[in-house]
Formats: sequence, C-alpha cells, structure tokens
Amino acid sequence: MFLKNTIILSGLAAFIQVNAQQTVMPKLKDAAAFPVAFAIDPVRVRTNDLFRRTVLEHADGITATNCMKPSRISRQKGTFDFAEADELIAFAQANGKRVHGHTLVWYIDTAPAWMKQIRDSTQLENVLNGYIRTVGSHFKGKVASWDVVNEAFDNKTGAIRTDSIGHNGKTNLNLGRILGKDYVARMFQYAHQADPGALLFYNEYGQETNPAKLDAVIGMVADFKKRGIPIHGLGLQMHINIDTPDAGIEHALRKSSETGLMVHISELDISMNTAKTKPFKPTAEQLEAQYRKYRFVADAYKRLVPKAQQFGITTWGIADADSWIPGFCSCEDYPLLFDQGYQPKKALTGFVEGL
Ligand code: XIL
Repeated sequence: MFLKNTIILSGLAAFIQVNAQQTVMPKLKDAAAFPVAFAIDPVRVRTNDLFRRTVLEHADGITATNCMKPSRISRQKGTFDFAEADELIAFAQANGKRVHGHTLVWYIDTAPAWMKQIRDSTQLENVLNGYIRTVGSHFKGKVASWDVVNEAFDNKTGAIRTDSIGHNGKTNLNLGRILGKDYVARMFQYAHQADPGALLFYNEYGQETNPAKLDAVIGMVADFKKRGIPIHGLGLQMHINIDTPDAGIEHALRKSSETGLMVHISELDISMNTAKTKPFKPTAEQLEAQYRKYRFVADAYKRLVPKAQQFGITTWGIADADSWIPGFCSCEDYPLLFDQGYQPKKALTGFVEGL
C-alpha cells in the first residue's frame, strides 16, 4: 500500500512537472523570428512518439541527418535509393516543415565507397554531375535548399583540400586533387541546373575558431559572385563547446553576413565535455555554461545577421540521446537542447531567452 501510494505520488509529481514545463516553456518556432530546425532521420519519427511530437511542436523545418547523403542514396554505382528520404519529406510536407537538403557533395564518409575508388578526372566529374542531376531533379520542388558542397577547405592551410587519406587512415573522396581546386564552383552550377529554384549553400565547420578557413570561404564567395556562379547561402555548422570564444562566433557571423548571402547556423550543438573524458557527468557550472552559450548563439545570430539573410538555426539532433558527438569523440557528452528522455534542458531555456 505504502509503495503503491509512493508510486502514485511520484507519478503525480512528474506529471505536474511535465505539465509545468509544457506551459512555461514556449515552443522554439513560436519564440524565434526566423526558422528553427532539427536534423532528424525517419526511423525515430516512425518509432518514437515523443520525438515526432517534439519536431512537430518546436521546429519550422528539418535537415536529414544522414538519409540524403550520397552514401545512403547511392550505395552501389548507378543505383539510387530514395525511400528513406522520401519518407522524411512526406512527413515534412504533411506537417508544413521546410526541408533543407544535406548534402550533395562531401569529401569524406558520406561519399560511397565505389565513388572513392575513382581516380580519373573526367569519370569523377561525370559521376558527380550525374549524381547531382538525378538527386537534384528527384527532390526538385520538395527541398527549399541544398548544402551543395560540405567541408571543402583544409583546416590548416585554408586552401581547398587535396588530401586523399584522412587522419583516421581512411581514404577520402579525392576531389580537390583529381578535379582541381575549382571543382566547388562546378558543383554549384550542376546543382543550379538540376533545381533552379533551390537555394544553394556552401557548408563548413570551424569558422568561429579558424580565421584562415573563414577567410577562404569568404574569398570563394567573392570569386563566385565575380564569375556569376550561383550561390545563395553559407552554412556555419557550429559544432562548438562551452569554451568556444564568443568573439569568434560573432566574427564568423559578421563576416559571413557581409557577403550579403543567407546565413544558416546549420548543425549547432554545444559540448560540455571539453576534456573528452570517457565517462563524464556535467557539473552544475558546465550546465550553466551550456545554457549561457546557447543563449549567446541565438542572440548573436539575431543581432548580427540582417533579417533578410536569416535562413535560420538548425541544431544537429533534438535530444542528447541521439547526438553524434559521443560517437565522434568516444566520450560521454550532452550537447543538445533536450535530455536523454526528450525533456527540455536548461540549455533550451537559454536558447529561447536568446531568441
Ligand atoms: C554526422 C551524423 O550525425 C552521424 O550520424 C554520421 O555517422 C556522420 O555524420 N558535419 C556534417 C554532418 O556535415 O553531416 C555530420 O553528421 C556531422 C559533422
């Protein structure tokens, strides 16, 4: 009897708490004057009710985490499998959510193994052109925008990557070396031909801490404009942590805005485990710092990106349960707005305050 009462009481307390959170916590899409989106894949939408509800209630749009990457769409040479992506898009369309396509070209793990084997420049150019034509036409009118090329610039030199072997020893898609450094421009031309109505983005990481790379991206935009290469936006992935300097974030947003293009914070997450220790339990200070950093990013975006250029902010996932960061750093971390059980974190409060 005692046990049962305790369970009922604690159940009631949890219910009131959940209801209180739902009533006090505004939905992101209502709090923001620009689109807010999540990176998601269809399996969770299909299988997890809370996940689906969170997307429906909080997001204006979505990016596909993986299912619109070449490695998923074209596992074998000459084959195209759109099943997962189509499922995601049907969900988005049925619920009035904007879809951002990610990504047509990437030098690393999203390139299918068969594509990485190609060494001949004409053959590789034709394969990429054909891929972009087929995929771009398939999603024409269904996606608002595309990341056309992802992460083309080298971290150290700020030049277009020409490395074939990654730091993990794996073979990358050898774009810069085989196709020459101007391949990025041609990919944008192919994308524009495939879907003339889509907004075309160049997506990159680390602009907030790597000025050489930021300058290289800005330089590329100036060059594209001079030559009439179609480009409409810059994606700043912004995989940052609680110690990422505010000034660097502001600088990247300011410089990107000065191009006059749309600016998309495209993959936001904020790590707390800066020492990357395997087991990790955030302290109250670290949770507070994460709250402050989310608030800062939202506020800086609103302040520094002119209204007409605000494509929006996308977080790379919804809840800590689904974050890619623990797999990437081989360490525990909790970088997102919702916790393992899809409940709002203090970070979400910070983000909403900043918005
Ligand atoms: C990541 C996904 O989240 C993982 O599930 C996948 O295993 C690897 O890719 N930059 C990008 C994203 O542009 O596509 C990456 O997504 C995260 C880093």
